[in-house]
Amino acid sequence: MKGLILSGGKGTRLRPLTYTSAKQLVPVANKPVLFYGIESLVSAGIREIGIVVGDTHAEIEAAVGDGSRFGAKVTYIPQDAPRGLAHAVSIAEPFLRGSRFVMYLGDNLLQRGINTLVEEYLRLGVDCEILLTRVPNPSSFGVAELDAGGRVVRLVEKPKEPRSDLALVGVYLFNDSVFDAVKAIQPSPRGELEITDAIQWLVDHGRSVHAHLVSGWWKDTGKADDMLEANRTVLDGLDNHAGTPTVDAASRVEGKVFFEGPPGSVVLVDSVVRGPVIIGEGSRIERSFVGPYTAIAAGCRLHRVEIENSIVWEGSTLENVRLRISDSLIGRGVVIRRDPERKPKAHRFLVGDNSEIGIGE
Ligand code: TTP
Repeated sequence: MKGLILSGGKGTRLRPLTYTSAKQLVPVANKPVLFYGIESLVSAGIREIGIVVGDTHAEIEAAVGDGSRFGAKVTYIPQDAPRGLAHAVSIAEPFLRGSRFVMYLGDNLLQRGINTLVEEYLRLGVDCEILLTRVPNPSSFGVAELDAGGRVVRLVEKPKEPRSDLALVGVYLFNDSVFDAVKAIQPSPRGELEITDAIQWLVDHGRSVHAHLVSGWWKDTGKADDMLEANRTVLDGLDNHAGTPTVDAASRVEGKVFFEGPPGSVVLVDSVVRGPVIIGEGSRIERSFVGPYTAIAAGCRLHRVEIENSIVWEGSTLENVRLRISDSLIGRGVVIRRDPERKPKAHRFLVGDNSEIGIGE
């Protein structure tokens, strides 16, 4: 079997972070989302992986390389524009033809991996297997309607009036029959070749499509709140403490806290860190509180701040902020600093397009 990871797209819902970074490289517990997908393919025994890339190809290629560090062989498949998930399948045909494959959306995370799904797909010998999960807001997803016997009857992309609450999870298993489907369908009203239309074509043309209900969590990390939720879930699932920081006598580390980098590279001074938390190599935390569900990447500096349920990317500085920072996504090299001496006494912002700042006092 081969793997196909979709890592193009625009990531409009995660702007401004995705103006400067591919959305699949946004870190969850200090690791790019995309890496979790590659690792779950490799763990299911899939080593030949095609990655569909768009405008952010250079950044994705720099992060993933030839795949050898994951034990995989990666082939990049350029897509000229995000023309839809089924379009991505059609351009990958030369790479995929002749093998069954798993298609994995590069911004999705599945808690339990895909090993049992791959086994089930091979055992059942069906043409296509889709994963479904119940969601409270089906109109934001591709939705499947099943008959009384659990067979797939209809698939609709983001229906206004959904006929079920079963959303398609971003992992699909196909054989060559999907190439007939993607050639036969037309772009949808939003101008994309939809994977739901391709699967509907398979259903309508008598191909076997098996629906598997997913247990455990699944996250599409398309939006900020989803990122924070994925971060919480991954941090919760890490099972051991790891790493050794440099800690002074006035500091306390409580619960599951992961310190990255060589021993001593994270420095805690007069601070409390309450897990689950991960802190990247070379970060320095001084007179601060780092609360549950926070991921601080490498090379950050926190001084007199309190932070919880947040993601901070590399090289950012947070200083002297009076209220606790909560539920926040903070990009690379950001500086947030309170300066009581500043004249005039005012907030000063140097903020890019589509940023969001919530002032709580
Ligand atoms: P989406 O989340 O559907 O699309 P998007 O990345 O354009 O995001 P947004 O809605 O925020 O603008 O894409 C799911 C995954 O598939 C994501 O990793 C991007 C990738 N993708 C492609 O590689 N090619 C495509 O043509 C599309 C539509 C998505």
